[in-house]
Amino acid sequence: MGYSAVCEICDFLNLRWIYSDIVSYVTSGVTAQNGHEWKTHRKFMETVLHNFGFDNKSMKSTILEETQHFLSMISDSNGEPINVSYPTYAAVSNIICSIAFGRRFDYNDVEFQKFINVIYELLSNQNIPVINLLPILQYLPGDIFGAKRILQQTHMLNKEFKRFIAEHKDTIDTENSRDFIDEYIIEKEKNAGLTDDDFPIAVFELFGAGTDTISNTITWSVLYLLKNPDIQNRMRDEMLCAIPTDRLPTMADKLNLPFCEAVIAETQRLANVLPFAIPHEVTEDVMIGQYKIVKGSHVIPNLSSVQHDEELFANHLKFDPLRFIDKQGKFYGQERIVPFSLGKRVCPGESLARMELFLFITAIVKKFHILPEEEGTFPSSQGQLGIAYKPNPFKVRFIEWN
Ligand code: HEM
Repeated sequence: MGYSAVCEICDFLNLRWIYSDIVSYVTSGVTAQNGHEWKTHRKFMETVLHNFGFDNKSMKSTILEETQHFLSMISDSNGEPINVSYPTYAAVSNIICSIAFGRRFDYNDVEFQKFINVIYELLSNQNIPVINLLPILQYLPGDIFGAKRILQQTHMLNKEFKRFIAEHKDTIDTENSRDFIDEYIIEKEKNAGLTDDDFPIAVFELFGAGTDTISNTITWSVLYLLKNPDIQNRMRDEMLCAIPTDRLPTMADKLNLPFCEAVIAETQRLANVLPFAIPHEVTEDVMIGQYKIVKGSHVIPNLSSVQHDEELFANHLKFDPLRFIDKQGKFYGQERIVPFSLGKRVCPGESLARMELFLFITAIVKKFHILPEEEGTFPSSQGQLGIAYKPNPFKVRFIEWN
């Protein structure tokens, strides 16, 4: 089928960012907008991620500190089988909490658990794309497609975010911005493009974009390493050679850990957590090759067509980190994959995400031997698609190395 035909079908089906019909307030923020509004929000998001995310020296220590909490939670399992996706989700959400709210939460904090359970459930909801394709489903009697529950959850989150925002307004020192919310309050005074109504969604967007993607990638890496003990051992051997035994890897170790980097790149390629990038509207008629994409069409970049291209990656369903190792044993060829997409809409959280993936995945392997729930029985590599592609639930045992 031709490209423009696909676009016209998407247009006909009114395919937009999957929240946009069901969650009425998501018509703002970065992801769901185009043109001038998008530029305003994107610029703001980039500045904040720059100041409080990847470019902030203390962010590296925030992630390392969170990694320690995460490892302790896993240690508490005492080698009993656990589903790693919950601890991962809690840890990754906490990093967004420190950017958004300027603080982390204890994993046992009941409010925090309630909060991330709602975000987790919303982002895993497989009905959202269906309801968005056929919005009429949300008006069926009862709640067969869970639309009312989705709305209740988004209202609950909205309320929570508004509470944080109100607290920040009461305590803000405009000379010393503490986090994303403070930045928004300060910037809103100068920039008519940022409004009170956009505010909760801007916070939600941080969670939506920055938790599911990273935590699912980490969970996939655990699954692949479980099924490939030789790769797990090779990563660990590499770390034992490059890093003193009594500490975890830091970003400064990255260059000395090419195989670990290759494992992360191969995880991103194979797991392909966002097989499709976000739908975007074409703002003027454009020709691509012989196809005319008419203004107003919705275009969805198909990232799988790169990540799973058999010509680029022979035997593409095989987990093989050596694809990213050259003859000299160096990490190479990362530009062949596009997990963060490309162009003007490229993921603004890429640097932060790369930092988190590196620090979490290497820490897990350095500290634990990952073993199956039952000797010789391995979970399937099949996943399920919510907002992101995630593995079906599985349990593993984490045995601490001495
Ligand atoms: C492994 C982790 C991540 C992956 C694989 C990922 C991937 C992507 C992809 C494929 C897009 C769509 C780009 C397009 O439309 O062409 C995107 C957009 C976006 N991502 Fe990420 N992302 C990750 C982590 C993050 C983090 C940590 C944040 C922020 C804290 C973030 C914030 C965003 C935002 C705001 C957009 C919308 C950009 C726009 O429309 O201009 N992402 N991401």
